Parts: sequence; C-alpha cells; structure tokens
Amino acid sequence: MRDVAVIGIGMNEKWGELWEKSFRTIFVEAALNAIDDAKIDKIDAMYIGCMSGGLFVGQEHIGSLLADYLGTGPIPATRIESACASGGLAFRQAFIDVASGMSDIVLAGGVEKMLDVDGGATTYALSTAADQEYECFHGITFPGLYAMIANAHMHKYGTTRKQLAQVAVKNHKNGSMNPRNQFPFETDIDSVINSVMIADPLTIMDCSPVTDGAAAVILCPLDLAKEKFKDHPVIQVIGSGHATDSIALHSRKDLTWLSAVELSGKNTYKMADKNPSDIDVCEVHDCFTIAEICATEALGFFEPGKGGMAVQDDVTAIEGKIPINTSGGLKSKGHPVGATGIAQILEITEQLRGDSGKRQVKDAKIGMTQNMGGSGGSSVCHILEVK
Ligand code: COA
Repeated sequence: MRDVAVIGIGMNEKWGELWEKSFRTIFVEAALNAIDDAKIDKIDAMYIGCMSGGLFVGQEHIGSLLADYLGTGPIPATRIESACASGGLAFRQAFIDVASGMSDIVLAGGVEKMLDVDGGATTYALSTAADQEYECFHGITFPGLYAMIANAHMHKYGTTRKQLAQVAVKNHKNGSMNPRNQFPFETDIDSVINSVMIADPLTIMDCSPVTDGAAAVILCPLDLAKEKFKDHPVIQVIGSGHATDSIALHSRKDLTWLSAVELSGKNTYKMADKNPSDIDVCEVHDCFTIAEICATEALGFFEPGKGGMAVQDDVTAIEGKIPINTSGGLKSKGHPVGATGIAQILEITEQLRGDSGKRQVKDAKIGMTQNMGGSGGSSVCHILEVK
C-alpha cells in the first residue's frame, strides 16, 4: 500500500439556501476551488458522496453528470452512498484507490441540494436512511430517533438538558468565526433550550439544519506530494476506518452506545498507530447535540456517560484539551448530507496547515474526522497528520 496525502481542498463559496445555483453548479464550484488549491491540471478518478440526488433534485447517474460538467470526463467517476456518511466514505474510497496504486490524482467530493423541495419531502428523503419497515412505518423521523438516544443518555448517565445545549453554544461560537457556514451566529444556553421544540428534549437549536452545499478534496501519493506539491504543508492520511451497525435503534443492545463509531474509530487508531490522547483536533458528526456527546465517548475521548460533563467543563472548546468541531460542526456549518464528510476533512486539513485563522488550534499536528450515517448505522473515521 502507498502512503497518501491531501493536496487540495475546496468548498462552494457559502453553504445554506442556494436557490440561484444548481446541484451541478455548487459541486463544480467546490471542485474547482480544490483543483486551484492543489494547482493540478489532471485528475485520474473521482468519488462523489451523495445521499439522495434522486429524492432531493430528481437526479441520479451522478458520477457521469458531475465529471462531464467539471470537464474531467471520461475519467472514472463513482457516486458513493452511505446516508449522511456518504462524503466520508467517498474520501475513504479515494484513499484506497490512491493507496492501491490504481490511480495517482483522485478527487473526493460530496454534494447535496436539499432545499429545492419542501420540508415534508426533505424529512421523507432523510428518513429513507432509517429502517423503513420497523421505524419509518410508525412515523419516526431523525430528530425523533436522536431524541430517544438523548432521553436514554439522560436517564442512564444523568446528562443534563443544559449540557446538550452547551454543545450547540460551543459549535455556534466556533462557527461564528467561519464565514462559509450556513448559520455563523453565536447563541446561548437559554436561547437553545427555549427555541421551538422539535422532538423532546431536542429543540430546533439542538438540530443540524437542512442545507445546500458541496465540498471537494484532492489526494495523491505522499511521495508525489513531497516532490511536486510544496505550496502547502504535506498532510498525510495515516488512518482510515469504516464500520456498520444495525440501522434500527431497537436492535441495539444499548441506545446510548454508537458501536459503529467505536469500531470505525478503533480501526482508524490501529492503522495510524495512535491513541485518542494523540489527537489534537477532531471533527465529529453533530447532526444533533446528543450525537456529538455520544461520538466523543465512542471515540474514546471520554468514558461512557462523561461526554456531557466534558462539554460543560470546556474540555472540547478550541482552547480545551481536545477541541471538537472547530468548524462549527454540522450545527453551524450546515449539513448537506453527502458533502459533510468531505468538509470535515477540509477543516482538519486547514487546521493542520495552520490556516484556520481565529479558529486555529495551537500546534495542531494530528487531526481526526468522524462521519456517521443515519442514527449510527454506519461510521467512517480518518486521522491526518502534518509531515
Ligand atoms: N438551527 C437553527 N436555526 C434553524 C435550524 C437549525 N437547525 N433549522 C431552521 N432554522 C431556522 C431557519 O433559518 C428559519 O429562520 P428564519 O425564520 O429566520 O428564516 C427558521 O429556523 C425556520 O426554518 P424552517 O426551515 O421552517 O424550519 P423547519 O421547522 O422546517 O426545520 C428542522 C427545522 C429542525 C426540522 C430541520 O432543520 C431538520 O429536519 N433538521 C434535521 C436534519 C436531519 O435530520 N439531518 C440528518 C441527520 S441524521
């Protein structure tokens, strides 16, 4: 296996509600920004994370469409789907392609345009990532599933409503320094708790929003990055892990434990030969505030049940021991489901390059990403290190 580096990163200019731009336009914008950043003039292959082009914009056959509009056709272009983990998995497939020696310069992208349909259609499209027969048939939605996880966590460990709100407060504070975000505003605990109820105990401010957005990164062999792409510090992908779990919550032994996150994290640490204590900065999948707390426990940053207390004590703040979601996370940045995993890689790459401005984590050398599908039915992690 060859060592692999990230040499280019890009997003479309701003995430949010982008009525004036089409699905293909926002992808091409992000991909061209990554190509410019890497200063390359050819790509050998593309992997594109997209959860539900069919339901959101009526478009399938996405690999060919996007290669054509990016002007890279006829190269192989593959659409990857794993619900909200589609972007992370597209990055992993690109990594495997370069590591195997099959391709040299590979683009990993992600795109979703979720706001061209009304709220009911969006909620339906998202719910297709849950178990249709055992969950959706009975009317459950994603806020409802995560509300059950939150209630179980509060019951089992004494996690408080205030601690959940503190995740949103922290992520909006980080996100207020990231102008690309959909919601780059700050908030406070009372505003989160008193915002409109979505699924008890989760209010709208505990939820990631619905978003139009795209992101792209470029990978190549580490040797080539050291030899030819010297404009930026070289960022190596030193670990990659992917795991699955039952989609339906009722099939799991413990509602509060995300086994796929734990296993994908363990496999990533093993490949990278690192431990949780080696990680300087991490982007986790905070689709709901409780998801961040559960993910930080499953990744081994905190003991089971201690994730809420860690947020309360500012351990996960930018100046804390393990800064989590310096980008603002899904909560502030937005969550165009197929693009999220790629934007996490972008944030960690910027942090390791030292290019994060006011969000910069001091002396960040090793960063991690964790991208989750549905309520934890799939999870993909990566560890990156500056060389
Ligand atoms: N956080 C903060 N503000 C939000 C928000 C969020 N998550 N979602 C919407 N808003 C704001 C909007 O900007 C709008 O503000 P305005 O009135 O100033 O323009 C207002 O709240 C109402 O927006 P609207 O789009 O009508 O909200 P909604 O009730 O249709 O949707 C949710 C709110 C929470 C239901 C929706 O964002 C959602 O489903 N989120 C979860 C997405 C999800 O499940 N993703 C997959 C995870 S696995």
